[in-house]
Amino acid sequence: MGFREDGEATLDWVASYLQRVRDLPVLAQVEPGQIRAQLPSSPPDRAEPFSAVLRDLDEVLLPGITHWNHPRFFAYFGITGSEPGILAEFVAAALNVQAMLWRTSPAATELEQVAMSWLAQLLGLPGDWHGHIEDTASTSTMAALAAARQAGGGRRVVVCSEQAHSSVDKACRLLELELRKVPVDEAFRMRPDKLDLEGVAAVVATVGTTSTTSVDPVPAIADACAKEGVWLHVDAAYAGAAAACPEFRWALEGAERADSVVVNPHKWLFTQFDCSALYTRRPEDLRAAFTLVPEYLRTSDQDVMNLSEYGPALGRRFRALKLWAVLRCYGREGIQARIREHVRLASLFESWLREEPGWEVCAPRPFSVVCFRHEGSDEENEALMARVNASGDIFVSHTKLNGRFVIRLAVGNAGTNEDDVRLAWETLKRCAAAVPA
Ligand SMILES: Cc1ncc(COP(=O)(O)O)c(C=O)c1O
Repeated sequence: MGFREDGEATLDWVASYLQRVRDLPVLAQVEPGQIRAQLPSSPPDRAEPFSAVLRDLDEVLLPGITHWNHPRFFAYFGITGSEPGILAEFVAAALNVQAMLWRTSPAATELEQVAMSWLAQLLGLPGDWHGHIEDTASTSTMAALAAARQAGGGRRVVVCSEQAHSSVDKACRLLELELRKVPVDEAFRMRPDKLDLEGVAAVVATVGTTSTTSVDPVPAIADACAKEGVWLHVDAAYAGAAAACPEFRWALEGAERADSVVVNPHKWLFTQFDCSALYTRRPEDLRAAFTLVPEYLRTSDQDVMNLSEYGPALGRRFRALKLWAVLRCYGREGIQARIREHVRLASLFESWLREEPGWEVCAPRPFSVVCFRHEGSDEENEALMARVNASGDIFVSHTKLNGRFVIRLAVGNAGTNEDDVRLAWETLKRCAAAVPA
């Protein structure tokens, strides 16, 4: 079979997968080692046809896939591998561009600049900032903190709230920075009155914390940072996307005064993993932290941006193509409509919880994530979650709030509809009734 036949078969496979994904169990129902045991331990000596790969995809791999592109994937943050993104990734694989330097593919670098500018406009971020794409928010935050360290004149302390993402801890560990955590208020937001910025290099404020999606008071934090000359990094990995809607613009209020901001299009912006948008008003500090140009990478190109000088990796995938495709094929209105629908569905689910005796909403819900628990002990709630996830009907995850086990339902897949959320609620109620008290 030739490339076209294999390609058609693959496209067929993808199209039928997208149609039937909602009928598959969301969470892979396999034991550790079960998939590996079905695969040969050594590579083949003779070339195999691609059809053999597709066959094993169905017969061996699919049972071991947890379906992130499932409309009832409600764990962590629900995400969408959208159709324009799938096609753009296919093309990017064919081009196989490595955009380390402008000249190694001028279109990739320039499209990245355009897509980042479009995204900034969509979210209301300043138009004159530098923006580029990293693989993940973990890398974006690490890069921002490396720049803050570079600019910090020897200061080596970073401050974030108790609710900040563990990527801040990891970045500090890697960069040998000391991390101090500030307490949060009753709504899980950083308390700016507890900020002590003496000797501090950077503050990380979170817009949409991982557990509850709480939003730190960025304007007050920006005031404090400005007073002490401290780098402010805003981690808006999840909730930054909401700013595409005017009614949620408040979430990024004050971010325009930050030194750097990260938003993940691979979270709530319908773009394939991986795609993390890192913006900074201080590109020269970022560049100072990362530039390292050996002779073989030196070029005589004038007035160009070599984006590998602004982050940890030299090799850079053509990620802008999928972001550009998504922004074009959804349009501002399409993005807004889906974000609004996700928030509506989460609010509906929250209202059902509030009306039903025996259930408790455990945190305010600014966006599309609901934190809740059923009456009973932590162990009972953990058993409830395990039972729900074993059903294969939905997949939810958990966190701990004020020391208590809490279940999270995160709406974020473009295919999720009201019936899916209703099924989640029915599954939870059914499983709660079955968990022995
Ligand atoms: C607030 C926040 N920041 C950062 C991250 C890390 O994202 P990534 O997986 O892109 O590194 C997450 C992941 O959920 C997150 O919720």
